[in-house]
Amino acid sequence: MDDLERLADDVRSADAVVAFTGAGISAPSGVPTFRGDDGVWDRFDEGQFAYGRFQRDPEGFWRDRVELQRVMFDEEYEPNAAHEALAEMERDGDLEAILTQNTDGLHGDAAAAIDDDAEDGEPTVLELHGNAQRVRCTDCGKRRDGDPIFERAANGDRPPTCKCGGVFKPDVVLFGEQLPGAVIQRARSLARESDVFLAIGSWLVVEPAASLPRRAASTGATVGIVNLESTPCDDIADAVFREDVTAVLPRLRDLAAE
Ligand code: APR
Repeated sequence: MDDLERLADDVRSADAVVAFTGAGISAPSGVPTFRGDDGVWDRFDEGQFAYGRFQRDPEGFWRDRVELQRVMFDEEYEPNAAHEALAEMERDGDLEAILTQNTDGLHGDAAAAIDDDAEDGEPTVLELHGNAQRVRCTDCGKRRDGDPIFERAANGDRPPTCKCGGVFKPDVVLFGEQLPGAVIQRARSLARESDVFLAIGSWLVVEPAASLPRRAASTGATVGIVNLESTPCDDIADAVFREDVTAVLPRLRDLAAE
């Protein structure tokens, strides 16, 4: 029995399997990752998108954000086989929740694309860093589809404002901005209560997400890591797959469904 078959056995016998994903799960869909060769942070400076810049210089922030959105989300990216495998595992009751650092919305698209007739109702995707396809008013809190607002900003309406007069902000967690406490608490309790914790396509360097695998391991969960490069959590993992997410996850889904 190899590592993946052992992990699939643990998934089959688990009460709570949680998947945590980073930019690497969307890379096969063409979405740029943040670090490594030709990553987003090779082309932009993180500081351009920090919360302090948004507050200090909203016009400049929105000018650069339009460019970042074009680079990251210009094409209509589709979910890939790894997103689909997780959505099918969730539908079939083999996965309790998907926690993601990604803001591309592809997990939600994958869940919506499968005929979700599972007894457990709505899929549970927790977007820890928000969703870049939406904007939110910093005054009234209203969330809107981002496309028309980015269009306005690209045409010089910067910063774009809400009908209430408030300034719109991309509905993502900016550098220097606190993640909503409730989201962190929910992610931490899901990790703590999991029997199997899968960390997929993340370098596991950005807190608080990066400590979730350790938190899961500390309460006895089996930890599986799927990532092309080494991560700071490899030492506590029960199994590390230095392979492409689109090779490992469909096989894990098939083995767990046997
Ligand atoms: N299969 C498996 N792993 C992959 C694949 C693939 N096809 N493609 C890339 N990877 C791995 C890379 O080796 C890298 O370790 O995915 C990881 C992606 O790491 P990052 O680009 O750092 O993405 P992530 O860990 O999600 O970044 C976390 O940092 O800048 C912030 O807000 C930003 O959400 C982001 C956060």
